[in-house]
Amino acid sequence: MFVALEGGDGSGKTGALAHLGQALRDWPGGVLFTREPGGTEEGLAIRSLLLGRGEHDWDPWAELLLVAAARAQHVARVIRPALAAGGLVVSDRYVGSTLAYQGAGRGLDAAAIRMVHNHSTGDLWPDLTVVLDVDPELALARGMARLAAEASGEDRFESLGLEFQRRVRQSFLAQAAAAPQRHAVIDASCPIELVQAQVAAAVLGFLGRA
Ligand code: TMP
Repeated sequence: MFVALEGGDGSGKTGALAHLGQALRDWPGGVLFTREPGGTEEGLAIRSLLLGRGEHDWDPWAELLLVAAARAQHVARVIRPALAAGGLVVSDRYVGSTLAYQGAGRGLDAAAIRMVHNHSTGDLWPDLTVVLDVDPELALARGMARLAAEASGEDRFESLGLEFQRRVRQSFLAQAAAAPQRHAVIDASCPIELVQAQVAAAVLGFLGRA
């Protein structure tokens, strides 16, 4: 089983993942928590090219191919072997983010993104994608993106801007609406404890049904 967690910047993914880790600590066969861009040493090097502090002026196609390169490595070296061993994989972001950020955000064609994805991962899609949905204005007011940026030495939210984040949000909602059986949308404007409990319930419910 392969689960991805998605959401705009500042939607509370980090806390939700920590809570999910607790909820799944006794999961038989083990759980691999991983993240994108990243997940491998090579992927982390790409992550710092994309997200490290400083001025970046990536062309959208260059950006797409970098996230796709990191993902190809991640899928081949980490995700597929873990799935083949019978484990549960939970990824902090996956292709939903590419459709939202490089697609809706940067204006690249969704069909082209899917094609790159299918070729570079052997068509690997999550069994379940959990979307943390929050109005970007509220996310900005809550300051969670800023705190995460300070902690990680990365900064995206402010540089992308509210309009961009609104397009990202709409894309995640549209992706969920197009394949409701493979998505769970959680209202991330609720109190944080409630959001975290709902994420864990969505994942455990899905795994129980699968
Ligand atoms: P995060 O790890 O704190 O969620 O931040 C990762 C950033 O990278 C976030 O702004 C979204 C962005 N991103 C893309 O633009 N495309 C992608 O395919 C992925 C996985 C992330």
